[in-house]
Amino acid sequence: MSILVAGGCGYIGSHVCKMLSRRGYDVIVADNLSHGYEDNAKWGKLIRADIGDRAALDKIFAGHKIDAVMHFCAYIEVGESVQEPAKYYHNNVANTLVLLDSMLAAGVKNFIFSSTAAVYGTPSRVPIEEDDPKVPINPYGRTKLMVERILADYDTPYGLRSIAFRYFNAAGADPDTEIGEAHVPETHLIPLVLDAALGVRDSIKIYGSDYNTPDGTCLRDYVHVNDLADAHIRGLEYLLNGGASNIFNLGSGSGYSVREIIDTVRKVTGREFRVEEISRRAGDPDVLVAKSDKARDTLKWQPSIGLEEIVSTAWKWHQKYRSNK
Ligand code: UFG
Repeated sequence: MSILVAGGCGYIGSHVCKMLSRRGYDVIVADNLSHGYEDNAKWGKLIRADIGDRAALDKIFAGHKIDAVMHFCAYIEVGESVQEPAKYYHNNVANTLVLLDSMLAAGVKNFIFSSTAAVYGTPSRVPIEEDDPKVPINPYGRTKLMVERILADYDTPYGLRSIAFRYFNAAGADPDTEIGEAHVPETHLIPLVLDAALGVRDSIKIYGSDYNTPDGTCLRDYVHVNDLADAHIRGLEYLLNGGASNIFNLGSGSGYSVREIIDTVRKVTGREFRVEEISRRAGDPDVLVAKSDKARDTLKWQPSIGLEEIVSTAWKWHQKYRSNK
């Protein structure tokens, strides 16, 4: 079985490639390397291609017998999406249409899409269930919700069967330290706290300590990237076995505050660093925690990696990453 992994050189995509390869799948990575790293293409064949390039995609589908496509190519910075929405609509929506056109023309009908908790906006209740209202509060979330709607519309007329996985806070790294999280610029909490622990940054800034939460800082649902990867393999097998299109939350079901993350980093690293409390970052809801029972029931998915292990795998990888720079 051959799987085309679009964006397989990025953070989540590369972890999925490793797991696919370990489970016996042939992996073909299509990545334009705008944000991904060539070094991350350790599993399967890398084809340098942009998903907006129809001719390049048609050539990939003509040259390989692809059974399913997984799509990880998206811009993911909420703040940037507010400043430069066109960039997000072009890449995250228009280019996804090109990918869908090309795969459907080649007769490939199984598709796994990376969606996000950002489709819910400010949640009406927590933990959040898949059918809860979806009112994204920024262009990033809207692009992801648009693609979810497109996938639903393409199902019956084109025979496209898809899964959209709504990730909560992807975190952690490959325990073998071959791959990990390295966004440029980095905006995610855990790698930034690890940089503070390493002394790469002067301090970690807490964005807001006046939220309606027990310690005043935001609660998020951190889920290990390998638990996400495992869900992708289960989703793939579900589709290959004839499962109907579906949408699943992927989260651990537990919420941790920014302060709890900082404390866990202190504990795991044994390092001290400066913490500053500053004003809120625009667009951060108080609490985002997933109810993932649907993935549990349908895919038999069970996240198995807790917060300390998330932070310790991230720490191991992060030290290696910074020492190589
Ligand atoms: N935070 C800080 N200081 C920092 C960085 C983050 O206090 O230096 C806080 C944020 O305000 C937030 C929490 O840490 O409360 C987590 O922030 P991240 O940026 O790590 O993650 P988000 O929850 O903002 O974002 C994640 C995904 C996004 C997705 C979003 C959905 O990374 O891609 O969830 O809501 F859009």
